[in-house]
Amino acid sequence: MTVSPPPTEAAEAAERSGAGQPSGAAERSGATESCEAAERSGATESCEAAERSGAAASCGAAESVGPTAPVDVDVVDLYLKHIGSGRAVMGRVMGGMAEVRSEGAWIHADDGRRFLDFGGYGVFILGHRHPAVVEAVHRQIDTHPLASRVFLEPVAARAAQALAAHTPPGVDYVHFVNSGAEATEAALKLARAHGRTSVITTRRGFHGKTLGALSVTANATYQTPFQPLLPDVTQVDYDDPDDLEQALAPRRDRACVIVEPVQGEGGVRIPRPGYLRQVRALCSTYGALLVVDEIQTGMGRLGTWWGVDAEGVRPDVLLAGKGLSGGVVPIAAMAATAEAYGPFSRDPYLHTSTFGASPIACAAALATVRAMEAENTVARAAALGLRLRAAVREVCAPYRGGLVREVRGLGLLIGIEFAEEQAVGELLLELIARGVLVNHSLNSTRVLRLTPPAVVDDEELDLFLTTLAEALHSTAGRMSG
Ligand SMILES: Cc1ncc(COP(=O)(O)O)c(C=O)c1O
Repeated sequence: MTVSPPPTEAAEAAERSGAGQPSGAAERSGATESCEAAERSGATESCEAAERSGAAASCGAAESVGPTAPVDVDVVDLYLKHIGSGRAVMGRVMGGMAEVRSEGAWIHADDGRRFLDFGGYGVFILGHRHPAVVEAVHRQIDTHPLASRVFLEPVAARAAQALAAHTPPGVDYVHFVNSGAEATEAALKLARAHGRTSVITTRRGFHGKTLGALSVTANATYQTPFQPLLPDVTQVDYDDPDDLEQALAPRRDRACVIVEPVQGEGGVRIPRPGYLRQVRALCSTYGALLVVDEIQTGMGRLGTWWGVDAEGVRPDVLLAGKGLSGGVVPIAAMAATAEAYGPFSRDPYLHTSTFGASPIACAAALATVRAMEAENTVARAAALGLRLRAAVREVCAPYRGGLVREVRGLGLLIGIEFAEEQAVGELLLELIARGVLVNHSLNSTRVLRLTPPAVVDDEELDLFLTTLAEALHSTAGRMSG
């Protein structure tokens, strides 16, 4: 633990960040009048909660470890002027801090406090700034960060080989991209190249927000402003093979099915055992291309390399992202069988982007896979997930049947479902105020989501559980009062 800064220094940094105080700029812009974005985020139900989140700035529980990179600008003001009022408002709701440093399971804010990161949208399975990944990226920067794209790139080849060593047998070809949504786009285009133009997705499914990906992300809030989206997309119920079969039957040899092994943004919805196997069998029967989106569930998140591993399913296409970055450089991938990959394999210009498969990102991915192998990250995620889930259930037990509906999860993807939406925002802010970060679920507003790193130690686990208990107590008290 680092030494706390002198109080004046910390106070100055907090003042500069605007933490805990109404931001003059925010007020001037009228941004504080509208909490729409914050509400949609599930971060808060009302502006009242935003005000209370001043608690986040004044609460002493978030440990002060010293401002390592003081921010000498009014970040909220810059967001208001140059990035957007919605994000600025959300920043204020969360306490007004700017995040400036990270390592392991911790994120540091500009006011000197640090936060235990049990959120991070599934990215930080290795924690923040894993030393082996950081070192590999440094090395790549010092030698050849971006390529001419004229010659072959050894680090891309090695990263593809490393990833393919863990994908289901036969899923050997890898197309690297820069984000999860781009991986979805690549899969949708590959499906079209095979004449699979009719896409079947699942209700509450999340696959990204670029135009094609958004077409299969089943959430009207995000889709409506951008209609019309891709034609011929059908939504079926998740975990319902009969519904899928009804959609597939009239689309023989022209469908593409995209599905998650567990719906992360959909509220950590875990299908019944055998579902993925049934989906695979139906796709084979009706000649559909099966795309399994493992962007959130893969890379050990569920305690297996991939969600499909638990059922021995081989998809035609598997999407990876988030954890593949090692938490250091954004990268995602579309992996496919030789047969499915054919069109991309034959024509290297069919689907390209300037920065796709960059050496710097591939160096991060390669080092990530190697670190996961060396540190048994997948087994660790499974074991830690079991302990964490049981302990979270215990902490939530007094509220079962009231505030809390259910605790569910697989590996280190855990959801707490509440009886009311409001509880998610309230608890999220209570946790921030006490120095812990978690996420809400974009397509399921009553579910709080935990995606901690597999590197969390016993002390951090205990800290999380104690904090959760306190935050739940406070939330329950306020909601009943
Ligand atoms: C299952 C799934 N697919 C796709 C995406 C989109 O990834 P990205 O945000 O990197 O575009 C996400 C992001 O949360 C996701 O959870």
